[in-house]
Amino acid sequence: MPSVRFRLNGVETSIDTDPDRSLLDILRGPLGMTGPHFGCGAGECGACNVIIGDRAVSSCDTPLWSVADKDITTLEGLGSAAQPHPLQRAFIAEQAMQCGYCVSGILISAAALLKRNPSPSSTEIKEALDRNLCRCGSQNRMVRAVLRAASDMAAG
Ligand code: FES
Ligand code: FES
Repeated sequence: MPSVRFRLNGVETSIDTDPDRSLLDILRGPLGMTGPHFGCGAGECGACNVIIGDRAVSSCDTPLWSVADKDITTLEGLGSAAQPHPLQRAFIAEQAMQCGYCVSGILISAAALLKRNPSPSSTEIKEALDRNLCRCGSQNRMVRAVLRAASDMAAG
């Protein structure tokens, strides 16, 4: 089996498997990263998003071979219960979720946006989250949460 190498949440990672398997399959399976969720499996919902470089990308339709030598961040790399990312604190403060299934992908898309643009407008946040579907109707609160996180991060 060929080996594919990349950095996962800052850790050099190598895996021997069929390089045509989806990144999501590898993350949730052998690598044990359950942050990215399986939703549609077709690149349509954003539940499986991860950050590759500085962009949020759906991992369900990303073949493993295409991430060779790239930097990948999953929800596990954003923050933890002990040290939450400002976005995670803001989502709790704004109660910006119902079932929570979409939130991993939404946090990833928002984190990628804040990496590129630390002070986004509401319109820019809506554009960045446009490909993430939420069936629970939490979108307005999510936009408020991203604005709050950006403000908290700017304040240090
Ligand atoms: S599960 Fe990947 S975009 Fe829906
Ligand atoms: S919080 Fe339930 S799908 Fe978004």
